[in-house]
Amino acid sequence: MKLNIFNDENEVLSALAAHFVQIANESIAQNGKFSVALSGGSSPKKLYELLASSFKTSIDWSKVYFFFGDERNVPQTSPDSNYLMAKTALFTPLNINAENIYPVDTSLGPKDAAQLYEAEIEQFFDNEEPSFDLVLLGLGDNSHTASLFPHTPVLHDRTPGVKEVFLQDQQVYRITLNAPLINEAQHIAFLVYGETKAIAVHHVLEDDEDIEEYPAQLIEPIVGEIQWFLDHDAASMLSK
Ligand code: 6PG
Repeated sequence: MKLNIFNDENEVLSALAAHFVQIANESIAQNGKFSVALSGGSSPKKLYELLASSFKTSIDWSKVYFFFGDERNVPQTSPDSNYLMAKTALFTPLNINAENIYPVDTSLGPKDAAQLYEAEIEQFFDNEEPSFDLVLLGLGDNSHTASLFPHTPVLHDRTPGVKEVFLQDQQVYRITLNAPLINEAQHIAFLVYGETKAIAVHHVLEDDEDIEEYPAQLIEPIVGEIQWFLDHDAASMLSK
């Protein structure tokens, strides 16, 4: 695990964008394509905008295949949709071909959407063990990542897959890659900035293992590498 700590949000975003470009170009040189699972929420929007502007010519985007680490069970036109956020910030500005984009089909019920997405991922990887080149992740104030929320059954999955998750407190469903599938990735990168995240960062990286309370502790790549991209504020409660 590599911890990258930067002065501010802009430095974090630039460093992660450069990391994204490096992995993309290595994967394309090696395999002719780059598969990435995007994170949702608010933090990555600026990263996607940066990739679509300053790094527009740094990658052959026709060889990039976009998936989602998780999705809210809302229509793709909803302001809560991770797909819509990525479409606005990245896909449309870069004119990405529709066949390079794998959104979660939220027009289905959450269970069916999860099953279909799992089948689409397996098909993309020719029924070999799915292993994304890069999985981007964020971190919630409650130490969730993707939609692996505290005290949810998906935390106990042992085989790679995609699951629907019901959030009792919000009375909503999410669809998420589970930890075994995320951990099959070649590269995993956490993007976390802002002081509101400091205690969660401390819990996940320094507290004793308690995956029920700190689900992001489940993220440990089997063969790949993992890096955290933090600003000083998010790293402010790290003792080491
Ligand atoms: C989502 C995400 C989720 C996110 C964290 C952090 O769909 O919300 O994938 O895991 O990364 O909730 O969200 P913020 O970046 O908005 O703080």
